[in-house]
Amino acid sequence: MIRRIAVVTSGGDAPGMNAAIRAVVRAGAQKGWEVYGVRQGYAGMISGVIERLGPRDVGGIMHLGGTVLGTARCPEFRTEEGSHRALRQFSQRDIDALVVIGGNGSQAGAALLSEMGFPVAGVASTIDNDLFGSEITIGVDTALNIALEAIDRLKVTASSHSRAFLVQVMGRDCGYLALMAGIAGGAEAIVVPEFETTPEEVAQALGAAWDRGKKHAVAVVAEGARYNAQALAAYFEEHEARLGFDLRVTTLGHVQRGGAPGVFDRILASRLGAAAVEFLAHGQFGVLAGLNRSAVTATPLTDVVSSKKELDRGMLELARVLAQ
Ligand code: F6P
Repeated sequence: MIRRIAVVTSGGDAPGMNAAIRAVVRAGAQKGWEVYGVRQGYAGMISGVIERLGPRDVGGIMHLGGTVLGTARCPEFRTEEGSHRALRQFSQRDIDALVVIGGNGSQAGAALLSEMGFPVAGVASTIDNDLFGSEITIGVDTALNIALEAIDRLKVTASSHSRAFLVQVMGRDCGYLALMAGIAGGAEAIVVPEFETTPEEVAQALGAAWDRGKKHAVAVVAEGARYNAQALAAYFEEHEARLGFDLRVTTLGHVQRGGAPGVFDRILASRLGAAAVEFLAHGQFGVLAGLNRSAVTATPLTDVVSSKKELDRGMLELARVLAQ
């Protein structure tokens, strides 16, 4: 029977993580459990930076971006020595189960603990939206709104100067952020890692915008694309005489991750955090709490770590049609 659980946030922070922590702590307290917060991700689990959290300790955090528990990327945890040290910290404190809030790397850590026989539940959280088992993950909506605000502003100045802009967004190897920000921002071209676009194709799409009488031409580029903003800018510079663009490059970077969570992420995080507690309470271990077709679902962590989420090619086609 579970009496004590811990909660950890791991990997890249995402707006909404605090709402998920709050949900885990309060739903856990509702069950009569003691809840502990692990600081600085798996690194804090290994070194034992673990403290008791009551419902009042997680008041006034839901509107904050980032994670009040701190986070880290911790390759040591993947080693046998690292994971065993972490579990020793838990057994010394009689902690029976863990909720892991994070993306791919974090859920791989959760799957490892589960394989070792420790009860875990994951909560799908990453701005990249590249995690199998949840159609949308915590942080994506807020990150997209931040990227969109930047694109809207860039279009204003681009129009004033009749310039072309390359806007690079995050996403690691996944083009979801670029694709959705590009559609919502009315980009003339969208470049994602999943479907290669050559520099000539981007140049053609931007050039066609002038030909159609547009005053701006914006390409949204995923950081993980083979031709990212840097590579495209170098190509455009090399062929400047022929292409003739007045081009500027903006890389949004970590700005996208640091915002205050919007309504969607707060609610998603609240639902998934509370669901993870329910899964543990029902002995449903080794699963990820995610959202699919508007319902909260439990996907085995073994499937989560061994499957890839596909990008919808149809949305890229839609973007091309609507850029006319
Ligand atoms: O996974 C989230 C993410 O923001 C990616 O989009 C990005 O590539 C990466 O993290 C950046 O990692 P870090 O914050 O460690 O530089």
